[in-house]
Amino acid sequence: MGNDVLDALLSAFPLPTLAIDGTERIIAANTEALTLIGQQALGRNYVTMLRQPALLDAIEATLQDGQSRGTSYLGNDGAQDTTFRVSVRAVPGVGRNAAGAAILVFEDITHVEQASQMRRDFVANVSHELRTPLTALMGFIETLRGPARNDAAAAERFLNIMQDEAERMNRLVGDLMSLNRVEGDERVRPTEAVVLNDILDSTLRTLRSLAEEAGVTFEREFNGDPVHIMADADQLKQVFTNLIENAIKYGGSGGRVTVRVTTSGREPALRAPGVRVQIVDYGPGIDPVHLPRITERFYRADDHRSRALGGTGLGLAIVKHIINRHRGRLRVESTLGEGATFTVVLPMHENLR
Ligand SMILES: Nc1ncnc2c1ncn2[C@@H]1O[C@H](COP(=O)(O)OP(=O)(O)OP(=O)(O)O)[C@@H](O)[C@H]1O
Ligand SMILES: [Mg+2]
Repeated sequence: MGNDVLDALLSAFPLPTLAIDGTERIIAANTEALTLIGQQALGRNYVTMLRQPALLDAIEATLQDGQSRGTSYLGNDGAQDTTFRVSVRAVPGVGRNAAGAAILVFEDITHVEQASQMRRDFVANVSHELRTPLTALMGFIETLRGPARNDAAAAERFLNIMQDEAERMNRLVGDLMSLNRVEGDERVRPTEAVVLNDILDSTLRTLRSLAEEAGVTFEREFNGDPVHIMADADQLKQVFTNLIENAIKYGGSGGRVTVRVTTSGREPALRAPGVRVQIVDYGPGIDPVHLPRITERFYRADDHRSRALGGTGLGLAIVKHIINRHRGRLRVESTLGEGATFTVVLPMHENLR
């Protein structure tokens, strides 16, 4: 087979593909392969171009014994490290003196690697989060059986702490299940026609006593005009509950929380009619360094304070998924010392107005 035919065949391959013959030179490569390993690779010795021992060993062995092999190749696309699965196949009758060649096909498996890394991180985080209250519970059980056995006052105190810890575990498990559910139906469009005002009113009613305890008053900046949207009412209530609860828990020192609703016939973020719900607090705010990661699972801006307040760090991750399901957007703005503004933008359907 001539090199022209080989070039033509390789250029038709969608994956980075190249051929190396018995002279150890790269005799053909498609543009995808040149982008991956270097534009000047054609005609060069493969050892100088590929430079990764496992891959070099596989190529050398295949050229010698004509057996196929698989290995991996680590690259970098300028933005991130990438991982490729490489199959090295022997092809007889190609290359100098038709002595045979090795054909390499590179398959990008970066996303697979990333997904499994994320899974590992997630399991590690969950275990850690569960272990902390569990360790406390075990400690107190031991104390109640031993030193505090006949001390009724101490027992009462310990039981209170144990109850708090058990409740924390219960919240964590509840949030995990909730996250799992919203991730599961993220692609299913909500089909209920709901009135946004009612959801907000009901959320504010539910949180009134929490606000009173924290010395927070609600400023309700929306009028009676009903805003109709397609949504899952329970899920939206979950979104606003977490955002307003956060504003009370973390921004309550500001003394008030504003809930503002504005509608627009053309919402720039959606390029369609939309409604914005803003939850504004006047507390300490969030350091801008935290903002890009604030919706990640278990991410807490102020770790110690958030834990002390019983937070699981899953609230905003759930919020984010629910808003995605509703084809909406979440924006967070904050100036340290002046408070934080969480904006939820949701599409409004014209035929519902
Ligand atoms: N309004 C706010 N002001 C200051 N910090 C905030 C505010 N809202 C959220 N945060 C920070 O973002 C973190 C993540 O919030 P998130 O709702 O995801 O978790 P949580 O409130 O700790 O736990 P959960 O909501 O599951 O009870 C919080 O721990 C807190 O540090
Ligand atoms: Mg929260």
